[in-house]
This record gives sequence, structure tokens and C-alpha cells, in this order.
Amino acid sequence: MTILEVNGFGKAFTIHHLNKRIPAVGQVQFTLHTGEFIGIIGKSGSGKSTILKSIYRTYLPDRGEILYNSKQFGKIDLARATEREIIFLRKNEIGYVSQFLNVMPRTTCRELVQNALLEMGEIKENAQVEAEKVLTHFEMDAELWDSYPKTFSGGEKLRLNIAIATVKKPRLLLLDEPTASLDQKSKIKVREMIEKLKHQGTTLIGIFHDIEFMEGLCDKVFEMKSNKVSVASDGVLHEG
Ligand SMILES: Nc1ncnc2c1ncn2[C@@H]1O[C@H](COP(=O)(O)OP(=O)(O)OP(=O)(O)O)[C@@H](O)[C@H]1O
Ligand SMILES: [Mg+2]
Repeated sequence: MTILEVNGFGKAFTIHHLNKRIPAVGQVQFTLHTGEFIGIIGKSGSGKSTILKSIYRTYLPDRGEILYNSKQFGKIDLARATEREIIFLRKNEIGYVSQFLNVMPRTTCRELVQNALLEMGEIKENAQVEAEKVLTHFEMDAELWDSYPKTFSGGEKLRLNIAIATVKKPRLLLLDEPTASLDQKSKIKVREMIEKLKHQGTTLIGIFHDIEFMEGLCDKVFEMKSNKVSVASDGVLHEG
């Protein structure tokens, strides 16, 4: 079954003080089937993050449609969905891990993970148990559980980010360089979690510098070339 279909997607940014339009992504076209894991690679500035942010609707595309097959809403164009629909989908169906941690201030690490479950309607007792499990899996030092993440190291922040997103077992998970600032051991943990989510039926899109690390897990690799997704390992993806 198709879970995501991106057609003729494009995005440019207006730099107001220069009165210029900078094209970020040209014509992107791809289809993602349920349970697949696709990796996106390409040089810096080629528009990889822009694609993920547009699927998550942090950015609004200029052109094209992003058709997502939602459990709640059926087929929905994420480029045109209402704010309410997007908020619902972010809480319940679509997860996003950015390279940066951007969380509620004065909320502890443990609370952040629990809240991710509570907002999905999980009961408190389960949220507590699941939060501890995922924090343990990502080897977050138990001493950090009740601290505020503001002072966490880059790797700790990233691991917390991943814990918050994966504890929800989203239907579609978007990963923007989830292993970038991690040591080898933490990278393996991330790989294990991706493997587990994949087994549970989560569909994933990930941007990776070190795609070799995902060897055997990625079903397809798409390469961004001159601001277009253009090459697929199996030839499925092409620019318009
Ligand atoms: N909010 C924004 N405002 C203006 N320009 C932006 C914005 N976001 C991205 N861009 C520009 O769009 C282009 C694509 O950026 P994007 O972040 O998608 O690249 P990337 O492939 O993820 O790069 P990297 O590998 O360095 O993370 C870049 O030229 C960038 O400067
Ligand atoms: Mg990026």
C-alpha cells in the first residue's frame, strides 16, 4: 500500500533583504510504500531537510502535492491540510527527528518522553513505563532523567529527540541525520530502534551522511542532485 506520494513538489525561499528568490528544491517526485525505509543523500544545501520539513509541514511547499494516507483522515494532502489536521497528525501519526532539540523549557527529560505518549491518549502508568524503557534503550544516564535537557550534550539531546519521536511508534517517521553527532555505540542503538520500528510497520524516511551505516536496512536510496531528487538505487525515483 502507498503511504506517501510526493508529486511535483518544489520550494523556494524569499530572502527579503536581498529581494531574491532562492530555489531550494526543484521538482520532486516519489512514492513510498507502507513499511519501507528510504534514505536520502546528497550534498549540503541540496534541499534534503527542506523535503522532510515540508512533509512535516514546518515549511509550506510552493508547488506540488504531498499525499499522505492517514489512519484518521484517509488520503490527505499535507501541503493543504488544515492546522488542526496537521497538529493531530504530528501527535498521532507522523514523527520527526531534527538535528536540533527544540522542546518545552522547564520540562524534564522524563516528562518530555511521557508527554509524547500522554498527548496520544496513553494512560499515565503506561507512559511512565514506556518512557523509562526508551530512555534505557538509548542509554540515557538515569541521573539525567529528571533534569532539564538544556544543559545536555549534543549527543544526549539527539538521543532524547529520538526517544521522544520513537516512543510514539509513529506510522511515518522522518529522520534528519539522526546519527550525525553520535558515537559508534549510540549509532548502533539508533539502527536497532529503526530496525524495531520497521518490524512494527513504521514507514521511515531518513537523511544520512553515512548511508553505509544503514546498509541492509534501507530499501531505497535517493540522491539529491542539483536540488532535485534524481537517482534511486532501484530507478524508481526521478526528477520531473
Ligand atoms: N528557512 C529558510 N530560509 C531561507 N533559505 C533556506 C531556508 N531553509 C533552507 N534554505 C535554503 O534552501 C537550500 C536547501 O537547504 P536544506 O536545509 O534543505 O539543505 P540540506 O540538503 O538539508 O543541507 P545540509 O546537508 O547542510 O543539512 C539551502 O540553500 C538553504 O540555504
Ligand atoms: Mg539538512
